[in-house]
Amino acid sequence: MTSNIPPPARHDSQGIPMHAPGSRLTTATNKYKDTHPVPEKPHVSPDIEAYKAAHSGSVGPHSDAWWAEQARENLTWIKDFTIVRTGGFPSEQELKENKSPSPTLPITWFTDGTLNACYNCVDRHAFANPDKTAIIYEADEPGEHQYITYAMLLNEVSRVANVLKGMGIKKGDTVTIYMPMTWQAVVAFLACVRIGAIHSAVFAGFSAESLRDRILDCQSTVLITADEGRRGGRSVATKVIADQALKECGDANPVKHVLVLSRTGSKTVAGQHFTPGRDVWWHEACANVPAYCPVEEMSSEDGLFILYTSGSTGKPKGILHTTGGYLLGALLTVKYVFDVHPGDKFACMADVGWITGHTYIIYGPLALGTTTTVFESTPVYPSPSRYWETVSKHGLTQFYSSPTAVRLLRKLGHQHVQDHDLSSLRVLGSVGEPINPEAWNWYNEHVGKGECAIVDTYWQTETGSIVVTPLPGAIETKPGAATVPFFGIEAEIVDPLSGKPLEGNGVEGVLCIKNPWPSIARTIWGDDKRFVETYFKPYPGHYFTGDGAARDEHGYIWIKGRVDDVINVSGHRMSTAEVESALLLHNGVAETAVIGTADELTGQAVNAFVTMKPEFSFDPTSEPALVKELVLQVRKIIGPFAAPKKVYIVSDLPKTRSGKIVRRILRKIASGEGDQLGDLSTVAEPEVVEVIKKKVAESP
Ligand code: WT7
Repeated sequence: MTSNIPPPARHDSQGIPMHAPGSRLTTATNKYKDTHPVPEKPHVSPDIEAYKAAHSGSVGPHSDAWWAEQARENLTWIKDFTIVRTGGFPSEQELKENKSPSPTLPITWFTDGTLNACYNCVDRHAFANPDKTAIIYEADEPGEHQYITYAMLLNEVSRVANVLKGMGIKKGDTVTIYMPMTWQAVVAFLACVRIGAIHSAVFAGFSAESLRDRILDCQSTVLITADEGRRGGRSVATKVIADQALKECGDANPVKHVLVLSRTGSKTVAGQHFTPGRDVWWHEACANVPAYCPVEEMSSEDGLFILYTSGSTGKPKGILHTTGGYLLGALLTVKYVFDVHPGDKFACMADVGWITGHTYIIYGPLALGTTTTVFESTPVYPSPSRYWETVSKHGLTQFYSSPTAVRLLRKLGHQHVQDHDLSSLRVLGSVGEPINPEAWNWYNEHVGKGECAIVDTYWQTETGSIVVTPLPGAIETKPGAATVPFFGIEAEIVDPLSGKPLEGNGVEGVLCIKNPWPSIARTIWGDDKRFVETYFKPYPGHYFTGDGAARDEHGYIWIKGRVDDVINVSGHRMSTAEVESALLLHNGVAETAVIGTADELTGQAVNAFVTMKPEFSFDPTSEPALVKELVLQVRKIIGPFAAPKKVYIVSDLPKTRSGKIVRRILRKIASGEGDQLGDLSTVAEPEVVEVIKKKVAESP
């Protein structure tokens, strides 16, 4: 056992419900009612027995056959596969023998099959249903929406694919995408995969430094971006940041061409931030290429995309997903978790720059031939009714959002929901962080009117698609429980101390998954070793999620939050080490410890404890200015979403005799539990603790 993961005790203070014995199933209000206008019978119904029968036919000895059938039924293959799966999660013995993991990927699905993801998401639907809306684009300004049909999508994707080819992009090359939430962002993704290029999308809220690091790590020769973004009535200087990132790459800059979408028609960008020879306008380039581009035949295991995510060290991990397996997971979860039927209009409110956007704005809905939504604005622009106006205007049937958004809207009051016709909605989803029962109940009552299915979906960048979730029509829910494993997923609660799976109900430990599923990540870009060490070494024979979890007396799974040094702010994942590295780049900072504390709105908030170098003198009255500077430092290095909510400048940090910072103490103090510190005998200088307590208590 290499794991030293502590039991997830600290998460109790996040307001996440403990599974109180005797908690009841909420049958009364949250039922996917037969009376509701479901176009057809739900895909799985009428109860948990139907789910259990289907689930048991999809796991264990049936797993490969089940996935193979789904793959043939739902995806269009150029060449059918004869091998369903190779490899599995390494056992303790295998981990020992194979000291440096082989550079070949340990797991493959539909190994010798070939297909093209763009063909599956666009062409086949454009042929069958050219005039069907593929994308509802709800622009930042209300009233500026557009409907993009599958035929239009095929045309635009083909043109951009031809432009990329003209820039020298070939099968296997990487292309970085740094784009705001316009419908053309979807085009950019699909144009890459049409010609076999691997896209690496960087969330447009990331800083120039973060973009630089991600471009350098995957060595993209092309960057796709926009002049500006629009969000909440304001412009974001996308191209200026992109230029800065490329400048900061210095001599190592691999980018030869920049394709620039004119989103706002910014004159400043056109004038001062356009490098002739390197930069090309999207509309100009597209006007000069053929309107059709043939698709590249890809192996099921060829890379589809890289997406960077935070781990427990400062360096983000480039998670690699491959073609066949990922696409199947995305498609099936849209179909079953959201009970999607023909004619539905699916809306996921995430950003395409995060995994939720990849899977549930782009690949899942489009592979299924559903209408998807690209929502450019915020839940509160121009008013807190924006989501509900959008739902009623377009007649959306599924609505997938985050606990943070629900908590914010709940706080602003249900009067903003009241006067909108939300009768088209059938399924409401939540993702990214644990949802507290208050938020869940509000979502159910005020948005769902007690008639929609609420699906609290648990998954990760690495899992590719949803792995634990209720299924509308079959699983009765409990506010705060992610409930049951999806088809083909064998979830286990493992005892972190013994490393053994905990059998039966009423148990708590860490969440692991036994046996591979098709949409699991294949590696960390350029670092197979780190991939194996992070996910497979802690619990041999299992994939380790990094989350604490419990199974209650009904056998339902509750997610308790991360048990590693990852902080989750509004569903955005970051490592404490990343924020610490950003702070250490400030010339006055000597040492820093970053922790997450419970936050009413954002789930968790970033708190930083900082000591300054002795030679960095500052007048205590100017401390607020210094704190501001440190917050700005993090915004600049990582991006605005990582900005600490609190920065405490202190004279020293609590350490063990060997010099390790004792974060547990800082976490307790920052959460207002400074009187429950317990045993301080491991701390070298207990006086330091008192000084910090005083500092936190006095802070505004
Ligand atoms: C982490 C993954 C893929 C979803 C978007 C975030 C947390 C995700 C839930 C949920 C409780 C959740 C976990 C997970 N998380 N969904 N329904 N209930 N926690 O993707 O950035 O890869 O983060 O988000 O802690 O490990 P991500």
